[in-house]
Amino acid sequence: MKHEKMIKALNDQVNKELFSAYFYLAMQAYFSSINLDGFSNFFRVQVQEERDHALGFFNYLNKIGGKITFAEIQKPQSEFSSPLEVFELTLKHEQFVTQSIYSLMDIAQDVKDHTTSIFIQWFITEQAEEEENVARVLNKLKLIKGDGSGLFMIDNELAQRVYVPAVIPI
Ligand code: FEO
Repeated sequence: MKHEKMIKALNDQVNKELFSAYFYLAMQAYFSSINLDGFSNFFRVQVQEERDHALGFFNYLNKIGGKITFAEIQKPQSEFSSPLEVFELTLKHEQFVTQSIYSLMDIAQDVKDHTTSIFIQWFITEQAEEEENVARVLNKLKLIKGDGSGLFMIDNELAQRVYVPAVIPI
């Protein structure tokens, strides 16, 4: 029998991951609207990954027999002033998600839920990778200082990103 606090935190994480997908969908739409299709592709893939994360927590809750609760998904910001702003917001959001994953681990350790600790480990590694990917693009955007040809080069690079379904061990 899992601790109630653990179940609630896992439920909350489903919502946070769905919000992430929604937020990144707004960013995908922004980049499409300004014809930066590579950037748009980057967020298209990101949306799919966030959906995988949400389903990972959902499937885990199903597996352990935890009650699944559904809450409203917050409305995301959908107006952006520049690619730089989008990546600053993305990094900030990923840092927030990382803290949330760390809290899940803290709870799992507090309540001595070792199985959930192992499950959460995958997300800790994933968050480090996500923050690194976003920071890399953000640093390039800072470097080009809004230069058009630099932007097109980054756009071409981001067009190469391919969605690979996450294999989340549950
Ligand atoms: Fe699911 Fe980007 O954290």
